[in-house]
Amino acid sequence: MSSGFAAVDVIRTKRDGGVLSDAQIDWVVDAYTRGVVADEQMSALAMAILLNGMTGPEIARWTAAMIASGERLDLSAVRRPTVDKHSTGGVGDKITLPLTPLVAACGAAVPQLSGRGLGHTGGTLDKLESIPGWRATVSNDEFIAQLDEVGAVICAAGAGLAPADRKLYALRDVTGTVEAIPLIASSIMSKKIAEGTGALVLDVKVGSGAFMKSVDQARELARTMVELGGAHGVRTVALLTDMSTPLGLAIGNAVEVTESVEVLAGGGPADVVELTVALAREMLAAAGLPDVDPGAALRDGRAMDSWRAMIRAQGGDPDAPMPTAAEVEVVRAEQDGYVASVDAYAMGVAAWRLGAGRARKEDPVSVPAGVVLHKRPGDPVRVGDALYELRAEDPSRIPAALAEASRAVHIAPTAPTATPLVIERIG
Ligand code: URA
Repeated sequence: MSSGFAAVDVIRTKRDGGVLSDAQIDWVVDAYTRGVVADEQMSALAMAILLNGMTGPEIARWTAAMIASGERLDLSAVRRPTVDKHSTGGVGDKITLPLTPLVAACGAAVPQLSGRGLGHTGGTLDKLESIPGWRATVSNDEFIAQLDEVGAVICAAGAGLAPADRKLYALRDVTGTVEAIPLIASSIMSKKIAEGTGALVLDVKVGSGAFMKSVDQARELARTMVELGGAHGVRTVALLTDMSTPLGLAIGNAVEVTESVEVLAGGGPADVVELTVALAREMLAAAGLPDVDPGAALRDGRAMDSWRAMIRAQGGDPDAPMPTAAEVEVVRAEQDGYVASVDAYAMGVAAWRLGAGRARKEDPVSVPAGVVLHKRPGDPVRVGDALYELRAEDPSRIPAALAEASRAVHIAPTAPTATPLVIERIG
């Protein structure tokens, strides 16, 4: 049966700066998912979208078509309000690990479908797989049962959820079209809406270690996603947060789990605690629990109990020691002064070169590899003080990582001006 559409006409419309009709969007997303529209045609359309943009109604329709390409989970059996969080990705961004059990400990349920890392940013599933026995894959029934009983699940998204996005994201990755705001917004929101969450808090990162290098770009992405959530009945707010410096002191897999457990034990680096609590407050408010204090649940051990239950429910041993790296190279200051900056992107690349990240989707990651900072921006340093350490399983990885990391750290005679971690709230 002929649909009456030709991919080349859809491409030409967008190439020439036109607006795609609802019917064109529905057809092209569905036909691409079924393999009727070829990769080279979708690549051309994605590039036309990157260059010419999309209107609000086009983005809304595109997102709806991506949701309709697969299943939409029904979480109505969960006896707590559901709320999720999505971060656009950063260096040392382990916030999902302490945040998910913390929000569960405060009375909401967090259905967190996560991904693996690619490039210089790490993936939540890779980090959790550092824990012996923990498994990322759960069935839909297990997902709903764990959400209801424990209130917290972090797992891999099933293949049935927004399959159009799965295919399109892989294509964008290799065609230089990841950075289009309409495509990023629809990609993220189609998965979150299909997952069935009632509310959503977005952590939109800005700075060298993020997709969005400027506040203006990040604001546009955040506004687009907040509107998409609202249009689909998901209460959505966004925080724009700084990603010019890595979050916390640990960048890698096992090292980030260790730091997250410190936060759950009531300690941990101040910036990780600040962002975890800020996002928890937003999530609880969005879930209709505005008066619950997440800080108290960190201090009194409820968040830690919730973490242990969440890890055990997926086969993990929360008491297992984290594997350690065979090679540790400590880098020391060569001058007195203050740490002026630690560049997130360069440190992310350093951790990746140590083996913490992957170059291709199918590559394994090293569990103990990564960077541990001993100093953060603003800290005073004396000659000989440890600045950071590089950890690897394979010593041949150290020199390339060292070249990146040494570019990342700047020492100046005076302390830098402090900048806010949470830049703006949109919603
Ligand atoms: N994360 C996603 O899920 N999709 C994008 O397009 C970019 C980041």
